[in-house]
Amino acid sequence: MRSRITRSTFLSMGLFSLCLLAPAQQLPYSSTVLILDHPTSFSALPNGIAISDGAAREEITAVRDDILRVRITSSGIMPEDASWAVLPGPLHASVSVTPESSAQSFGFRTAALDVQVNRSNMRLTVRDLSGKIIQQDALPVRFQGTSFRVYKTMPLDEHYFGLGDKTGPLDRRDEAFSMWNTDAYRYQESTDPLYKTIPYFLIYRAGIASGIFLDNTWRSSFDFGKALPGVYSFGAVNGPLNYYILYGPAPKKVVEEYAWLTGTPPLPPLWTLGYQQSRYSYTPQSRVLEIAHRLRADHIPADAIYLDIGYQDHNRPFTVDTKTFPDFKGMIAQLHAEDFHVVTIVDLHIARYPNHNYYPYDSGTAGNHFVHNPDGSVYSGIVWPGPSVFPDFTQQQSRRWFGTLYKTFYDTYGVDGFWDDMNEPSIFDVPTKTMPLDVIHRINEPGFITRTATHAEIHNIFGMQNSRGTYEGLLKLKPNQRAFVLTRASYAGGQRYAATWTGDNSSTWNHLRITHFMLENLGLSGFAFSGADVGGYAGTPPPDLLTKWIELAAFQPIDRDHTEINSGNQEPWVGGPAQEAIRRHFINTRYRLMPYLYTLADQTSRTGLPMIRPLFLDYPDAAADRHPIDIDLPASGEFLLGHDILVAPSPFPEEPDSYAVEFPSPVWYNYWTGEKLGPPAPNPNLPVDQVPLTLNVTPELASLPVFVHAGSILPIQPLVQSTNQVPDGPLTLKVYAGDDCSGSIYQDDGRTFDYKHGAYLRIHFTCSATPSGFTVHADPQQGTYPAWWKLIRVEVYGWKPSTRSVSLDGQPFRGAVLDIQNGIAVTIPASATGFNLEIH
Ligand code: GLC
Repeated sequence: MRSRITRSTFLSMGLFSLCLLAPAQQLPYSSTVLILDHPTSFSALPNGIAISDGAAREEITAVRDDILRVRITSSGIMPEDASWAVLPGPLHASVSVTPESSAQSFGFRTAALDVQVNRSNMRLTVRDLSGKIIQQDALPVRFQGTSFRVYKTMPLDEHYFGLGDKTGPLDRRDEAFSMWNTDAYRYQESTDPLYKTIPYFLIYRAGIASGIFLDNTWRSSFDFGKALPGVYSFGAVNGPLNYYILYGPAPKKVVEEYAWLTGTPPLPPLWTLGYQQSRYSYTPQSRVLEIAHRLRADHIPADAIYLDIGYQDHNRPFTVDTKTFPDFKGMIAQLHAEDFHVVTIVDLHIARYPNHNYYPYDSGTAGNHFVHNPDGSVYSGIVWPGPSVFPDFTQQQSRRWFGTLYKTFYDTYGVDGFWDDMNEPSIFDVPTKTMPLDVIHRINEPGFITRTATHAEIHNIFGMQNSRGTYEGLLKLKPNQRAFVLTRASYAGGQRYAATWTGDNSSTWNHLRITHFMLENLGLSGFAFSGADVGGYAGTPPPDLLTKWIELAAFQPIDRDHTEINSGNQEPWVGGPAQEAIRRHFINTRYRLMPYLYTLADQTSRTGLPMIRPLFLDYPDAAADRHPIDIDLPASGEFLLGHDILVAPSPFPEEPDSYAVEFPSPVWYNYWTGEKLGPPAPNPNLPVDQVPLTLNVTPELASLPVFVHAGSILPIQPLVQSTNQVPDGPLTLKVYAGDDCSGSIYQDDGRTFDYKHGAYLRIHFTCSATPSGFTVHADPQQGTYPAWWKLIRVEVYGWKPSTRSVSLDGQPFRGAVLDIQNGIAVTIPASATGFNLEIH
């Protein structure tokens, strides 16, 4: 058995001894304790079952055959059935079930699951139809005062992922987390809570995946065997006990189910996949232009410049400091002319600045749009602008009002995207770092009862509703332009409105090491468009750290270099020409891969499947025991970009020691050279936890091991300096011979929603090697968007021609078969009706 990254110090004492512990000793003291373990009645529902224990009532219903919902009330009265996360359709969806009970248990079956509640102790067990246990209550559900907790058994070989961008290892096993959106400046690997609340995790055990989503906005907590060995548990301090059980068995299916419940992220504008340059703050105006000019002069491809709070007048949102930015609009026009997009920060707090014609404050006050103290006065807290007030984002009309505030920046100045920061909400100078829990929010919202709610209930959705206000406001202002919003705080489902980043990380090797865990878990939790501050936010990275970070970020969804005020410079040229050359090479690589990235982004927006992925998501069968190989120490630096690309830095990126890359399937190719790796000689003695292929690598600063799955076809474009530029030259298809060979390309105008009305291009490719030759096939183009390429250069790796004769669509083709490193290349004319290329 090789070393694993989890702290798997499992106790064999099991559940028996847990039950001996007096429950009151395990939880903080509160008022009444109610333990649900004496069912008093059972009844069948058309879509599930209901169980009572005295006044308490539990309902287990089937939302779909593969998604269950569990709602439990201690009082017998089910709370309001409304959700900020779950879409209206899924919230009210249900399927009919087949009752199935025995002397021991009461339950039902769906087309995928067998659901049973023990008649004597009320424990829930969910099995697949072959009888395999998917989830099982370990202890009774427990209410204590307003809080509740649910306990599930935790088999030794089960692993847990998700919960957003919590730090720590990729696997949540043996860790515990709480959910309370927090401005966590300079957080470290052990810091918790962080900025977001995504109370959803994916459970994976030997090839079978399921998920749990606790839809509760109050402070909640998740414990994976830390408090009680052999038990994982979740609960909240208040609010509904309302959770969903999602069943795979494939891990990808669970991700798609979660996306079905809470929505997919919208297709982002193409430019947001380009390299983005930021700092706190580029100021004055001339410095912004200087950065832009240097990027162009140094041929560092780039698509966006960010303006942090320094562009504002006294940090007041929706203002411009005209002393330092004398021609804001002209500056943006100039940046546009140089193919840059501009993102401005607009924090949610509104400066409390009466009698100064500060429109956001005046109009917000006139419309009664700010949150109140319990005594009815407007709540005020200190943030960047000083005393500030806070929009009541849980009111639709207040979000709409907030959305209109972007008009001048979006319409008149031409700002391209907006950055919603500090929206936990962060408040300075108070120990809690946020609003008092008794601040009053108003809920005025379709689907909800109109009522007030305390901050304790609303806190964790405040940032999400802020980004919703921004996103929906931008769409209203420019209905046919894809809006880009970057948010720091959010809640489950917030991916519908904004991309995200991991907040104020540090310029350390350890932060680089944990970045991909955070991004992978965010992706599994719905937030596929995410990034970390490249180079680190707090502090100044040494040149080699910045270089490695830029290398890795080139293969991550959002690639934004950002740093804090008063830190050293962190642009790609910092550290000298040798470092810059390496960094340029990797940013160039990202731009060449743009068709692959964008095709992936399209897949994400349709399915919810993340761009950056843990290996087990696509390769659950990597080892015979089907453990998630990501948790093997050697593989712990690795991540997938889509299904086909494996990025494999050292698990400890600063260490010079060689390390073993673990591959999740037997044949891969070196992305840089096209060299084929594997398959290894058959080995009947392979241990069951052993992966099929490994490779020893000695790390070097200038290189990053990147591999391509055999059977992939990657679309690659000529280098551009910005996604605004139309690539000049052929589309390259890099074809990596292997089984089930396929690939695709998705294109559209990159900006509007015209793709929804047919103005897109999608082409599926396949390849196959036969005894007589090698075939690359393109289906006819779907959609009406015209291709930018006139020629397609087909590069084939892992296959050798014999006669070098070529036919295209059944006719002899006279184009040359060129020898390239580890492969051959043929260039053919492009055609919207597809092609069939045979090489002999
Ligand atoms: C917060 C953000 C950071 C930003 C700073 C100033 O700390 O997380 O990215 O630069 O505020 O706006």
